[in-house]
Amino acid sequence: MAFIEFQDVRKVYHMGSVDVTAVDGMTFSVEKGELCVIVGPSGAGKTTVLNMLGGMDKPTSGVIRLGDRVVSDMDDRQLTYYRRLDIGFVFQFYNLVQNLTAVENVELAAQICPDPLPAAEVLERVGLGHRLDNFPAQLSGGEQQRVAIARAIAKNPQLLLCDEPTGALDYQTGKQILELLQDTCHETGQPVCIVTHNLAFTQIADRVIHVREGRASKIEVNSHPASAATVEW
Ligand SMILES: Nc1ncnc2c1ncn2[C@@H]1O[C@H](COP(=O)(O)OP(=O)(O)OP(=O)(O)O)[C@@H](O)[C@H]1O
Ligand SMILES: [Mg+2]
Repeated sequence: MAFIEFQDVRKVYHMGSVDVTAVDGMTFSVEKGELCVIVGPSGAGKTTVLNMLGGMDKPTSGVIRLGDRVVSDMDDRQLTYYRRLDIGFVFQFYNLVQNLTAVENVELAAQICPDPLPAAEVLERVGLGHRLDNFPAQLSGGEQQRVAIARAIAKNPQLLLCDEPTGALDYQTGKQILELLQDTCHETGQPVCIVTHNLAFTQIADRVIHVREGRASKIEVNSHPASAATVEW
């Protein structure tokens, strides 16, 4: 069995009298250690997929598994622990706590986990060893995203989920963030899922899930993914 499994997952939002089908029978799997890119146009259902995988949203039907656990069967309390302990999230707009320093932001997230990595060491690893005591407002967008990635990694999670992690960054900085995510995935063996609308990112993935109208329209496996340092878009 694969490490991540989606089996015929549907998500319908009820908006008053209108039903919005965000995910419409999605089936895919991701192996341990893979960098997975989930790509598709706006409104295709990418964020909804990521949120269900991360336990932030529940499917209407279907089965979601991570390792030997069935995420789609968890109750609210189990989902809270799952989000806290097992998942590292990276968002487009970093979501750092503004009145805590870089190292404090990382420590805050890691302290609720049983087996965290040392905050300063992880910040060193993402290239911010010299900015530990800076507040988010004193850091560039790319540096803030590195802190956010360090925060996710320091939890020592089962899985890293990134929703448009380069969406707010310029080209070069975005590329460096992709390199960091690719290196993290390959060095730690933790699977990383990146949601994007940018087809160029698919070159660096071990596995690509193309999403269209709430379905996996195509799944590709790259036996020789490109290094993030060399991709152009
Ligand atoms: N909480 C919600 N309530 C109602 N409808 C929602 C909700 N979340 C998403 N949707 C709808 O579900 C569909 C898929 O949304 P989703 O955010 O997953 O798309 P996306 O692929 O991430 O798009 P984008 O690239 O613009 O971020 C859209 O039609 C959206 O309006
Ligand atoms: Mg989205």
